[in-house]
Amino acid sequence: MPTIIKVLHNKHIILGVTGGIAAYKAAAVCSQLVQGGALVDVVMTEAAQKFITPLTFQALTHRPVYTDMFDIPPGQNIPHISLADSADLLLIAPATAHTLAKLANGLADDLLAAIALATPAPLLLAPAMETDMWRHPATHANLEKLRAWGATIVGPAEGRLASGATGQGRLVEPDEIVSAARVVLGRRGGMAGWQVVVTAGGTREAIDPVRFVSNHSSGKMGYAVAVAARDRGAAVTLITTAGLPDPFGVEVIHVASAEEMRAATLEKTHQAHLLVMAAAVADFRPGMVAEQKIKKKGDTGGLALELVRNPDILAEVATQKAAGYGPTITIGFAAETEDLLTNAQSKLERKRLDLIVANDVSATDAGFAVDTNRVTLLFAEGSVEELPLMSKVEVAEAILDRVERLNVER
Ligand code: PMT
Repeated sequence: MPTIIKVLHNKHIILGVTGGIAAYKAAAVCSQLVQGGALVDVVMTEAAQKFITPLTFQALTHRPVYTDMFDIPPGQNIPHISLADSADLLLIAPATAHTLAKLANGLADDLLAAIALATPAPLLLAPAMETDMWRHPATHANLEKLRAWGATIVGPAEGRLASGATGQGRLVEPDEIVSAARVVLGRRGGMAGWQVVVTAGGTREAIDPVRFVSNHSSGKMGYAVAVAARDRGAAVTLITTAGLPDPFGVEVIHVASAEEMRAATLEKTHQAHLLVMAAAVADFRPGMVAEQKIKKKGDTGGLALELVRNPDILAEVATQKAAGYGPTITIGFAAETEDLLTNAQSKLERKRLDLIVANDVSATDAGFAVDTNRVTLLFAEGSVEELPLMSKVEVAEAILDRVERLNVER
């Protein structure tokens, strides 16, 4: 079962496909949008149909594909008006230099250009062309004009082009185009204007230059929260130890140790509305970090490590908050293997949190590294909500739904 993406669900997206070799990648974009829950109407220019057929998109969307301004089904409105009026987003991928020129000059000589002129929906353009066309001042002037009118541009990337040459002008990958669509659609979401800080991954506490102490956190839970907040319009900073791909449209700060995470978190939460500490921060670190790789001595002897306490980042944020300059809302996670609720409740109080998300990390389908989680939410005012097994993406959305409500109640 594909995961429905909340910001895409039931959104009406017009996907304009224009005539370049990258048109084939529009099929992957289309498929991802449909699987995410969007209603996608594809509009193809005549040149696009030389590279890919309408049937491909019809099969992916289960909806008619529009290719002709004057092809009006009996009893229906003219398509450029009905499509333009009902769209939540007009996404053109790939957008050729010719299409950019038409849009920048308000031409309406085919269905796609007419829709672009008529729609109040936001416009997202993913340009693709040969490097020389991309570098041409005409293309840049056209893009600047479109940007000034409110269009969002994603890409192009550098890479292999249709000519066989390598350079700038390659369509960005479908994942990135879909992420950009999510950002544009989420701009007026429930967290628009919020600064959100999320931590993710397990901290790595060095023993020597080649070894460290850590835990099993993959970062998946924290990344899901960061992306969900981004999709709701927030400006998100993700402070992470994980090696997952950086999410599009999120400021990512890579750290390793608890001390590095602490420094980045305290700096970034000064002005934040929300801090979500999904990271598994090591409570202890080796008291001494050897400057050189520790060598074995003899054939048998062991090695004793003395561990010292790490700073408690959430406790320090609570002190900041009490002094009047921390985040408005603070959320922690409790990773427990026994006495889940009692331990989580004690952390909620000790770290003066608004909400703690308790997860039993001894379960095989929840907690570390898996794609699902089963959590119980404990709120500062005393209420407790148990959620069923869900994907981490759904858990992230459920947490942020509650956070938006908390914010309204304040
Ligand atoms: O990354 P995944 O593989 O997706 O796994 C997700 C997860 C299991 C790591 C996540 O859901 C989770 O439970 N994160 C918190 C893990 C943890 O450190 O729990 P804790 O009970 O030890 O700490 C409680 C809270 O205090 C946490 O929000 C933690 O970030 C914070 N903390 C802990 C220690 C410390 N020195 N400073 C802190 O701020």
